[in-house]
Amino acid sequence: MDSRRILVTGGAGYIGSQTVRLLLEQGHDVTVVDNLSKGYRHNVPAGRLFELNIADTAALAGLMRRMRPQAVIHFAAFIAVGESMREPARYFTNNLGGSLSLLTAMVETGVRHMVFSSTAAVYGDPPSSPILETFPIKAVNPYGESKVMVETLLRWFDEIHRLTSVSLRYFNASGADPAGHLGEEHDPETHLIPLLFRAILTGQPITVFGADYPTPDGTCVRDYIHVDDLAQAHILSLEYLLNGGASDQFNVGTGAGHTVLEMIKVVEEVTGKKVPYVIGPRREGDSPSLVADPSKLRSRLAWQPRYGDLKTIIEHAWKFASSHSK
Ligand SMILES: NC(=O)c1ccc[n+]([C@@H]2O[C@H](COP(=O)([O-])OP(=O)(O)OC[C@H]3O[C@@H](n4cnc5c(N)ncnc54)[C@H](O)[C@@H]3O)[C@@H](O)[C@H]2O)c1
Repeated sequence: MDSRRILVTGGAGYIGSQTVRLLLEQGHDVTVVDNLSKGYRHNVPAGRLFELNIADTAALAGLMRRMRPQAVIHFAAFIAVGESMREPARYFTNNLGGSLSLLTAMVETGVRHMVFSSTAAVYGDPPSSPILETFPIKAVNPYGESKVMVETLLRWFDEIHRLTSVSLRYFNASGADPAGHLGEEHDPETHLIPLLFRAILTGQPITVFGADYPTPDGTCVRDYIHVDDLAQAHILSLEYLLNGGASDQFNVGTGAGHTVLEMIKVVEEVTGKKVPYVIGPRREGDSPSLVADPSKLRSRLAWQPRYGDLKTIIEHAWKFASSHSK
């Protein structure tokens, strides 16, 4: 792909920073917008970060006029499902309101393409797994609903302003950059792999929520996608849009599901340490199984995961976690 000028919101966060790294490695010119509410300055190469809230439409439009990006990759959002059940307004304000502000600035300044971080949470509790993009959209929490609403905004901005977009519905982003420099540092952390590492490092047992689901060992099944493969899906989506591709939605997952107990076993193999855990009751809102059918992304955008193997994902995550534990 030719060198492109790309604006990345949320580029100081976990997935955004990996994507910025890959974009720079592939020769693109990248500007990052992040208010550091959750991300870290150390995740972004010097001189690329503009510390802005995406709710500030005028500041975003000013930046776009100066930088003249050809497309936006939009990661900036709050991401904790449980918190969204307690504080829905924060999620709708930041995720929906922030996206509307960003789209308004794009229309004002003539930026015509967006790759959007959507989520498997738009499917809620799907009737079966693997999940196809044609499954019913039915979020079961405000976080997922905020993403459904942004997908709806995108449909209308295409219809009315000819702004084309790709919504990537990610399954469980995981792993770290293979060199071990960038990785997952959410605060609070809610994702399984870093929580398993924390249990090892602190000796505090992790609670496995439910062991009586209709799955091979009773624990929940999820699809873990390496963050580098996820980042690459964004770059392929950019190329697709910049070459005139129509707005669309794609699942990003491996198509393979793993139970929580299976994850514990592989973490123990990789680290050589026991994971202390206890079995607790089911957690409200957890689906027994969420596994992607990624065939649309593979066939339409020629996406091929490089790190589909779970052991590699956990090795990369451990390399980062064991060298960055506080
Ligand atoms: N991590 C996952 O497994 C997963 C799964 C599905 C979807 N997603 C989506 O991917 C995106 C990135 O997730 P992540 O795990 O990297 O999260 P993250 O919290 O590490 O990154 C989000 C970044 O956005 C920034 N941000 C938030 N609100 C902002 C605002 N108003 N203005 C400017 N910056 C703002 C934060 O400071 C942070 O750097 C999110 O949109 C999330 O919903 C993540």
